[in-house]
Amino acid sequence: MLVAVARVEEVPPGTVKTVQAGDEAIALANVDGSFYATQNACLHLEGPLGEGRLDECVLTCPWHGWRYDVRTGKNDFDLAIELRTYEVQVEDGEVKVAV
Ligand code: FES
Repeated sequence: MLVAVARVEEVPPGTVKTVQAGDEAIALANVDGSFYATQNACLHLEGPLGEGRLDECVLTCPWHGWRYDVRTGKNDFDLAIELRTYEVQVEDGEVKVAV
């Protein structure tokens, strides 16, 4: 099911934001105009990834600095640690996430 979570202009390139799709909290990242969605809760101690820092495709958790590639959800230190990722579609200026 596709759920509209934000307008395109609400998440400018180079930023990440926490959005809600039904019961799921999602970190929505804009990498140079391409949107990626991962679970919001960091796999370390559930820090809010949507409040983290985005450098290109690398999202850094605001709590203790774990880093993930938003395209794959993989942790950059241990590739076995992997966030849930969601398919994203943009339609009519709205960002929609498949949940
Ligand atoms: S909770 Fe994300 S690095 Fe600790």
